[in-house]
Amino acid sequence: MSHKLEQLRDSALREIESAGDEQSLEAARVKYLGRSGTVSAWGEQMKTLGKDEKPTVGKLLNEVRNAVTAAIEERAQKFRAQKESAALSNIDISLPGTPHERGSLHPLTQMLDRSIDIFRRMGFALADGPDIEDEWHCFDALNTPPEHPARNEQDTFFLRDGRLLRTHTSTVQIRAMQAAPPPIRVIAPGAAYRRDELDATHSPQFHQIEGLYVDENVSVADLKGALEFFMRELFGPDTAVQFRPHFFPFTEPSLEVYVKSKALKGGEQWIEVAGSGVVHPAVFEQVNDARGDKAYDPEKWSGYAFGLGMDRLAMILFDIPDIRFFAQNDLRFLRQFA
Ligand code: DAH
Repeated sequence: MSHKLEQLRDSALREIESAGDEQSLEAARVKYLGRSGTVSAWGEQMKTLGKDEKPTVGKLLNEVRNAVTAAIEERAQKFRAQKESAALSNIDISLPGTPHERGSLHPLTQMLDRSIDIFRRMGFALADGPDIEDEWHCFDALNTPPEHPARNEQDTFFLRDGRLLRTHTSTVQIRAMQAAPPPIRVIAPGAAYRRDELDATHSPQFHQIEGLYVDENVSVADLKGALEFFMRELFGPDTAVQFRPHFFPFTEPSLEVYVKSKALKGGEQWIEVAGSGVVHPAVFEQVNDARGDKAYDPEKWSGYAFGLGMDRLAMILFDIPDIRFFAQNDLRFLRQFA
């Protein structure tokens, strides 16, 4: 005769098999496996058995518990699957879905990425600074005296607390030199702001890549070599680069950079793309004062700096006629650069 436990198992399995829904299955589970269920009660009873019976009954009890547990899980699984297919039965999975549009990088971002890539190959590291600046970083440290027109309220967005939106990325030159002694070779891409009227070629927010290289014996020749290499990598080997004397308070000599390339639309004319120059010793002195040391001794160190107009570069590279397109978020425009 089979053991009482085996009879218990058989009736449990039968009950589980015939459970028609989740509630009756749960009822069966409580009945057999619940804290005061039948199988659990056998566990209690084990304690009263003699030494000779305990091992066989214990083994059998385990088998029964496992078999009942497995049967309940299997049945539950079946109910879950039924539920799922019922939920799906109203859905035609062969219908086309709602497509997700694939985005692409903004042309200015593409231009920045390409430029950063070229400078990285030349050994420049990335530097960063805030868009909201103080006057010292934006002007004084860059040898720009208080009476300079750039500091005029008409050109600069001032905040009520006296800070301002940086009018150029040259601020990052100062921050980079405050943070580390020479030699230094960094670029700083970012936005700059001026109170310009918005038209096809002017925008109150525009983008620059600032560059700074300080080492021993750095000269205009290094500056010219670096920027010529950059322009030819960007616009092709036939690109001509011209440096014209100019004035910036923070460089001496100062040079404006022009490019001309047959590969570009309007290729026969010179287009201004950057300001540049050899770092003015007064800038080093300002940095030294702020650092409280003589790390940037103008007798020992020299450097070049440049500021590239990224909107302009992107406009000539991609033949974009109006700077306002960059900020209008018009997909008809943006899709052309996907
Ligand atoms: N900061 C200047 C501007 O926004 C551009 C510039 C000129 C940057 C000369 C430089 C530089 O680093 O050396 O017009």
